[in-house]
Amino acid sequence: MIEKIKNLKRNKYCGELGINDIGKEVVVCGWVQRQRDLGHLIFIDLRDRTGVVQLAFDEHTDKKIFQKAFEVRSEFVLAAKGFIRERSSKNMQIKTGEIEIAVSDLEVLSEAETTPFEIVENSNANEELRLKYRYLDLRRPDVQDKIIIRHKIVKIAHDYFDENGFIEVETPMLIRSTPEGARDYLVPSRIFRGSFFALPQSPQLYKQLLMLAGFDRYFQVARCFRDEDLRADRQPEFTQLDFEMSFVDENDVISITEGFIKKVFKEILNQDISVPLKRLTYFEAMNRFGTDKPDLRFGMEIVELTDILKNSEFKVFSDAIASGGSVRAINAKDIAPRLTRKEIDRLTSWIKDYGAKGLAWTKINSDLSSSSSYEKFLNETEIIRIRKTVGTQSNDIIFIVADSDTKVVLESLGALRCKLADKFDLIKTSEPNLLWITDFPLLEFDKEENRYVAMHHPFTAPRHEDIEKLDSEPQNVYARAYDLVFNGNEIGGGSVRISNLELQNKMFKVLGFSKEESKNKFGFLLEAFKYGVPPHGGLAFGLDRLIMLMLNCKSIRDVIAFPKVASSAELMSNSPSFVDKRQLDELSIIFNSN
Ligand code: AMO
Ligand code: AMP
Repeated sequence: MIEKIKNLKRNKYCGELGINDIGKEVVVCGWVQRQRDLGHLIFIDLRDRTGVVQLAFDEHTDKKIFQKAFEVRSEFVLAAKGFIRERSSKNMQIKTGEIEIAVSDLEVLSEAETTPFEIVENSNANEELRLKYRYLDLRRPDVQDKIIIRHKIVKIAHDYFDENGFIEVETPMLIRSTPEGARDYLVPSRIFRGSFFALPQSPQLYKQLLMLAGFDRYFQVARCFRDEDLRADRQPEFTQLDFEMSFVDENDVISITEGFIKKVFKEILNQDISVPLKRLTYFEAMNRFGTDKPDLRFGMEIVELTDILKNSEFKVFSDAIASGGSVRAINAKDIAPRLTRKEIDRLTSWIKDYGAKGLAWTKINSDLSSSSSYEKFLNETEIIRIRKTVGTQSNDIIFIVADSDTKVVLESLGALRCKLADKFDLIKTSEPNLLWITDFPLLEFDKEENRYVAMHHPFTAPRHEDIEKLDSEPQNVYARAYDLVFNGNEIGGGSVRISNLELQNKMFKVLGFSKEESKNKFGFLLEAFKYGVPPHGGLAFGLDRLIMLMLNCKSIRDVIAFPKVASSAELMSNSPSFVDKRQLDELSIIFNSN
């Protein structure tokens, strides 16, 4: 018989039963966490989404039912009926540990083979195996909880934005390719041979057009697609909490964002976030922390030594300054005794990945004696001034980078600062660190493309007072953009947009697009701008990142039900996959195996 008739109908969840239910007859359903056979007694831990409850079988149990319980194995799916009674030996570690169900009827709804890994909390099974069997991995309560909390966060977002007058609108998934920085995922059209749709990197243009259409406030839980190299905090498809508002300036957008942050931290983590959040300008963040997403939960700020060393005999330093660069340092306090020479050498080769050509260091021992890679090349005054500027004490270690490109100096020291904090566990607070980065440059020069590119996107407005510099000194134009940073990660970004046809055309020109190109890529937006544009601005949260950080997860994969791995493959369904030749023929695609 393929399927037996099922009689038992669930009326309670396992994890919700407690001492107040004693004496009640219930039917529960779920998966077998484990079965313990003590000869004359059998216990089964039955698990559902809410938790685990103990089923008990003893000498009073009907023989047939007892035999069924005897044959049950882990991960079988059961329905069990019985009376709730107080346990003789209580287990206060679990929610339902004071009670058990004395089973009077039992149905095996499905048998299960031995699973490829044990379904337990905090499993140490290999991640690849877990992702191949993600539906089993998702049975583990700690994994399932994160997805359930994700649901709650999205629910809070819907409520919050609705309460604040935002209308949810679904924007299309098959759109015109209008690259915004990352590579597009393309979808070939069957009907228009040789033409492609792109999957949206974000709903940016559509949300702006909704402002033109008069929706005033738009919100969407929006799936986005970017074909870029993956890291622990990136996925090729991810979700944004995306919104846009009309007749606003940056402070309106920032304050709506802060309201959401406050609400979500309170309701999910019971943490009070005090708003308005701290704001740092882009230049201050770069100069003090070497990154536009600084983690302020620890110190070790970057200090500048350029003035002290510009005339130094030591050419590594003075030449870098003479060719337009700088020399800067960080002081890692109290870690000198824990950093061996070998480890310093390792850091020296590691920092080269960030473009630094070397790493100079001075280690101050506990007896104030010291060793250094560079002090022998400096004079006494220089040594004293450096030590004073960075504020050294015993057990400190100074790291210095010199380069003709100050960006390299800042970014490499910024990365070293985070690496040391991680390696030596320097983050002592459990308080979330949230801040805004403002006053971004509008453009950055892309050496490879030999042109300016937009730091955010081409629709971000320049500051009013900088508009006239767009032609003459584009590098000095600031954007009306803001990023939200949480524990050293960018969790959101947005801007006030260009809402003027002439200015948008100028922006495309500064980005090196010919009239033809901008018409071809963004013609529909430019056309729309002819018919009455409200001033508007907005922001998008990276939802996956926000949840990952709120829940203290190491990887974005932990908060996505069916995530992709670093190669962008999805291991469970084994995609991407080859398709039938017939499908390719319909799309007029000839696959070139080279
Ligand atoms: P931006 O490109 O900064 O802005 O994206 C907004 C936020 O989305 C998250 N994010 C990602 N999360 C996971 N995987 C990825 N590959 C990924 N890429 C980005 C980040 C980021 O802060 N349209 C604009 C928003 C606007 O201007 O309103 C946009 O998409 O947390
Ligand atoms: P050298 O004269 O090349 O032996 O370098 C002396 C010290 O300066 C060594 O500790 C190097 O690691 C360090 N050094 C070399 N280049 C740089 C640089 N660009 N920034 C910081 N330190 C450097």
